[in-house]
Amino acid sequence: MDVWEKCRSWTASQLQETGQDCYYQVISDTFDGTEVTFADRRIVMAASHDYLGLSADQRVREAAMAAVRRFGTSLGGSRAISGSLRLHEQLEEQLAQFLGQESAAVLPSGYQANLMLAPLLDKDDYVFSDLSNHASLDEVIRLGEAKERKFLHSNMKHLEELLTTTRAGAGKTILSDGIFSVEGDICDLPALTQLAGRHSAYVVLDSSHDLGVLGPKGAGAAEHYGVQPLLITSALSKSLASVGGVIAGPAEVIRYLRFHARTSLFTAAASPANVAAALAALEILQTEPERRQRVLNLAERLHNGLRALGYDTGASTTPVVPVLVRGRERCLRMWRKLCEAGVFTAPMTYPGVRAGREVLRVTLTAAHTDTQLERLLNAFEAVGLAEGVLPEAGPPREYAPVRITRPTMATSTARGEEP
Ligand SMILES: Cc1ncc(COP(=O)(O)O)c(C=O)c1O
Repeated sequence: MDVWEKCRSWTASQLQETGQDCYYQVISDTFDGTEVTFADRRIVMAASHDYLGLSADQRVREAAMAAVRRFGTSLGGSRAISGSLRLHEQLEEQLAQFLGQESAAVLPSGYQANLMLAPLLDKDDYVFSDLSNHASLDEVIRLGEAKERKFLHSNMKHLEELLTTTRAGAGKTILSDGIFSVEGDICDLPALTQLAGRHSAYVVLDSSHDLGVLGPKGAGAAEHYGVQPLLITSALSKSLASVGGVIAGPAEVIRYLRFHARTSLFTAAASPANVAAALAALEILQTEPERRQRVLNLAERLHNGLRALGYDTGASTTPVVPVLVRGRERCLRMWRKLCEAGVFTAPMTYPGVRAGREVLRVTLTAAHTDTQLERLLNAFEAVGLAEGVLPEAGPPREYAPVRITRPTMATSTARGEEP
């Protein structure tokens, strides 16, 4: 069959049927990352993961501009063969220290940071992965050679069954998000590392959504629990207000991956502007903990405001707030109506989630105002009533409030239960 045939038959009407006509929407302007111009109207942006509200911060912008002035816009090639800036190494050193790891490698995206794991996944090995992990962790399993064992979302019993029925001497790696990017719940890292210890497995944690949000210093789920996985990966596009990725862990593992992962060897260096922006954001993250407090406070009010209206925000206790709407048609209809009512949310439908698990994901940042939160809740109320998803008789008399997960003092800084 003609290899292009599938492209010809992928018409606009099919895009509409799958709801993917909601993707790639053009935003013509942004205002401090909290509002955007969309379809000629200025509306609240509630779909960005700039959790600490630093993407528009003057100091972060200045750092990016200074790097462009000094180094230009691109290094024009791979760090391996076209030269790597001291700036890249500075970011790697600071991220490694911040994450409590020996060493780190910075990549042009978080997706690529996860693909870096491929050389660890050999043919006789096994890789265990939470069903709700980010797509890039699925992708590295396809890229590696290890046999895949998926466990039900956050189900430690299922993981244990899979580990127990896997050949004892085989190499084993467990992959998990720290905060899950759709459900917004937090991985049970202590249970995961305990199981890993018992079955001689290593844990890799993707902290894209928990870096900057969880832990006394904001270093993520590992710091929150006081447990260190073997490796931590993260996108730099969320709390670090940039674009890029990092993988951090023992020096010998990072060195091996740098020289064996094609995603590092054969890709252009992260741009100087992005590296400088992440460095500036990392410093602000550590010196202004009030930003973390602000995003957590807003998230708690967002969860509870939605719940008071009659919405369900699932098992999340974090700033990733999923509004459970179930059903692709409804999800997309509500997404459009919310845009008209002044709020840009993220419609999570297939392939972002499995069919039947659709949610409107809402995320606010430390830069959002109380007034913007009010506008968002008013829009959800109006659209929910029009859609018939909120009770006509009025909001529920009672609802189960969410207590957001806040920093606690870490119980231990030991390297945990590594084999
Ligand atoms: C959990 C998680 N991991 C990895 C990534 C990929 O990061 P990037 O967008 O920098 O490629 C994302 C981004 O959406 C993510 O949410």
